[in-house]
Amino acid sequence: SSSGGGGGGGVARVYRGAFAHSTRDSALRVLTDCVLGVNARGKESEFYTGSVEVRVTNDRHSEFFMPGMVDTHIHASQYAYSGTHLDLPLLDWLNIYTFPLESRYEDLDFAKDAYTKVVKRTLRNGTTTACYFATIHTEASLLLGEITDYFGQRALIGKVCMDLNPMVPEYKELTEESKEETDRFITELLRKKYALVKPIVTPRFAMSCSSALLSNLGKTARNNDLHIQSHISENKQEVQFVKALFPECKSYTDVYVKHGLLTSKTVMAHGCHLTDEELETFHEKGAALSHCPNSNISLISGLLNVRNVLNHKVKLGLGTDVAGGYSSSMLDAIRKAVDTSKALCIQDAQLQPLSYKEAFRLATLGGSEVLSLDDCLGNFEVGKDFDALRVNVGVPGSPIDVFPGDDLEVLLEKFLNLGDDRNIVEVYVAGKRVVPLPDSK
Ligand code: GUN
Ligand code: FE
Repeated sequence: SSSGGGGGGGVARVYRGAFAHSTRDSALRVLTDCVLGVNARGKESEFYTGSVEVRVTNDRHSEFFMPGMVDTHIHASQYAYSGTHLDLPLLDWLNIYTFPLESRYEDLDFAKDAYTKVVKRTLRNGTTTACYFATIHTEASLLLGEITDYFGQRALIGKVCMDLNPMVPEYKELTEESKEETDRFITELLRKKYALVKPIVTPRFAMSCSSALLSNLGKTARNNDLHIQSHISENKQEVQFVKALFPECKSYTDVYVKHGLLTSKTVMAHGCHLTDEELETFHEKGAALSHCPNSNISLISGLLNVRNVLNHKVKLGLGTDVAGGYSSSMLDAIRKAVDTSKALCIQDAQLQPLSYKEAFRLATLGGSEVLSLDDCLGNFEVGKDFDALRVNVGVPGSPIDVFPGDDLEVLLEKFLNLGDDRNIVEVYVAGKRVVPLPDSK
């Protein structure tokens, strides 16, 4: 379906074939026999229909383009143990597995190997934009920025900030140090002038940050107009601890509000146990939630009621939350989001389950809204960057079988439910082909 061939920016191209994407009004729009123009700067121009001759071969019939997926919450550092260590609830899991692993990123050789692997893996899985947590180490976090830029992934990179860690005191910073290193991280990353890689202010969560640090980070974000990411109301025990640590705040959400950390550029992960009142505050502030269903189940944290979040008109996207979530694939996040919603429907017959089309939207356009990047990515609208996957459900060895009469909607639904990286034959970010990956890297 792609005419125009090879990777690299700088050349205007047309992409011919079938397209599936979400728009503001519609969770799924499909266009068959279309041509999409992409200019030399990687921006999309009009769809043309009707006047183009398309030869439909068997192979052509099994291919389509869809927008690249946006992982709104992933711990790049934890990829090293993804798929393991899922036998403890959140707070024990952090103390026993996560903090000791993250402290290894002081070693830049270890960091380079792990960060290269996670960026390559997520790109092959169709994640064109990732919102990453690194670790507390500035140098390793800058290295993650360099690696995402090298492989052409769009990314927000967070140097993790934490000045409280009673159980693992070797893995934390001094309050002043955390603020100064954040400033240095931001300055150094911006100095590189990477086209697609930007810093994001990253207090780990309220339990691991003093009030002084939270306020400082709120100011840093405001003064530099930066994105903010953290965790909120993931686990009931955590919610209780935060209430005890911040008695002057009326809720977990209020802790972030009071420290200037709940803005229209904020992404909070999880939110399983937020009250309706807190969701209203998210809506008023224009702050976003990242739904991480694999992690929520794997760490037995809770089941986010997606329908309730959507009804509150809170910006919502999906996250893998590697490695609390064991899969680095956004396809898994789509499936687990639908499964979680259906599990809640078993408890409450009034609830309307999340459809695959809605989950598709959350993984693409929803993610772009969460990161306030919906003016430049998330679907195939004119003027946006061409961040796209070329999917072929009929590749040799495909986990999907195609039957006569399977139309584009069916192919998309099969891919979302049954497909994997074998079906993602090309990945484009801002018009540049980034998958297949460069050889020998
Ligand atoms: N809350 C604070 N830190 C973390 C983390 O690394 N993973 C998850 N899932 N929750 C957190
Ligand atoms: Fe997380």
